[in-house]
Amino acid sequence: MRFTTLVPLFLAVPATVFACEGDCIVAITNAILGNYSRPLENVMKSMAAQISNIIPSHPDEQTTMTYLQPIISAYQKEAYQGMETAIFPNFFHGKCLDAQGIEPDGCPNPDCPIVCGTPGSMVHYYSKLRFIAFNETYHHLERLCTPGTDTYKRVEQAVVGAAGHDERRRSSSRIYSRALSNAVNVAHSNKGSGSSTAPGSGSGSGSGHDSALGSRPKDHKTSTPEISTPKMLVPIFLKRADDVKSGLKSIMQQCHGLLEEACGGDGVQETNGLPECSWEGAMKEYILSFP
Ligand SMILES: *[C@@H]1O[C@H](CO)[C@@H](O)[C@H](O)[C@H]1NC(C)=O
Ligand SMILES: *[C@@H]1O[C@H](CO)[C@@H](O)[C@H](O)[C@H]1NC(C)=O
Repeated sequence: MRFTTLVPLFLAVPATVFACEGDCIVAITNAILGNYSRPLENVMKSMAAQISNIIPSHPDEQTTMTYLQPIISAYQKEAYQGMETAIFPNFFHGKCLDAQGIEPDGCPNPDCPIVCGTPGSMVHYYSKLRFIAFNETYHHLERLCTPGTDTYKRVEQAVVGAAGHDERRRSSSRIYSRALSNAVNVAHSNKGSGSSTAPGSGSGSGSGHDSALGSRPKDHKTSTPEISTPKMLVPIFLKRADDVKSGLKSIMQQCHGLLEEACGGDGVQETNGLPECSWEGAMKEYILSFP
C-alpha cells in the first residue's frame, strides 16, 4: 500500500451483515470504504494541521492525529453498516424481486423496474453508486464533527487539554518570559500613542470574564488597562481555553466540506463527477468480477 501510515485507520472492520445476500455486497461495500481511506486521510491531515495551529506548542501530525482519534474510531465502527445500508438496500436491491418475491419482466437487465444489486446494474448506475458513497461518507463525517456529540466533546477535551498543558509548561519557560516582555513593550508603545490597539476587546475592568481572570497573579500590574489584551499573558489562561474551543469549532465545521474538496466536488449534487472519489475504472472492473 502506498499510504502506509494512516490507511489502516480507515479500513473499517466489516460488521455483521443482516439482510444482505451475497459476498458481492460485502466485498463491494468494503472496496468503497477502502477507496475512501485516502480522501479521509487527507481530511484528517488537514484538520490535524489546523488544530496544531491553535495549540501553542504546535504538536506534530502524529500527535495531533491522536486528538482526532475519537472521530476516526467512531467512523471505523460505524462506516460499514452505514455504507452498506446506503447502497443496499436503500438503492440497490440484491435480487431483482418485487414485493411478492417475483422477478419482474425485463430483469435482471439494468433498466428493469427494480434497481437490482447485480454487478451489471451497479455498473450501469455507477454515477449513482458513486454519489451514494460520497453522500454517505459526507454526512457521516458531518455527524461526527457536530458540536455536542460524544465524538466532538472528546476531541475538544483532548485539544483543550493539550493547549492547557502547553500553557502550564510555558508559564515557567523563557518563551513565556519573552512573550511577557513583548507584551510589556506593547504597553510602552501604547503609552506613547495613548490609545488602545484593541478597543472593546474586554480588557476593561468589571466584566465577569475579567474578574475570573483577576484571581490570577497580576504579573502585569504596571500595565494600563489597554494593554492587557495580548493573548500570551498568563492570566489569559481561561480566555485561552475559550479561544481554543472556538478555534476548534470552526475547524470541525469544515470537516465534511474538506471531504468535498478532497473528492474534487463542486457542490453536494448528484450530477457531480467527484473526480477524486470516482475510481470508476477499477471499481467497474471489480464489480464485474462478481458473477
Ligand atoms: C478502489 O477499489 C478497487 C476495488 O477494490 C481497487 O481495485 C482500487 O485499486 C481502489 N483504488 C484506490 C485508489 O484505492
Ligand atoms: C444523502 O445522505 C443523507 C443522510 O444520510 C440522506 O438523508 C439523503 O437521502 C442522501 N441523499 C441521496 C440522494 O442519497
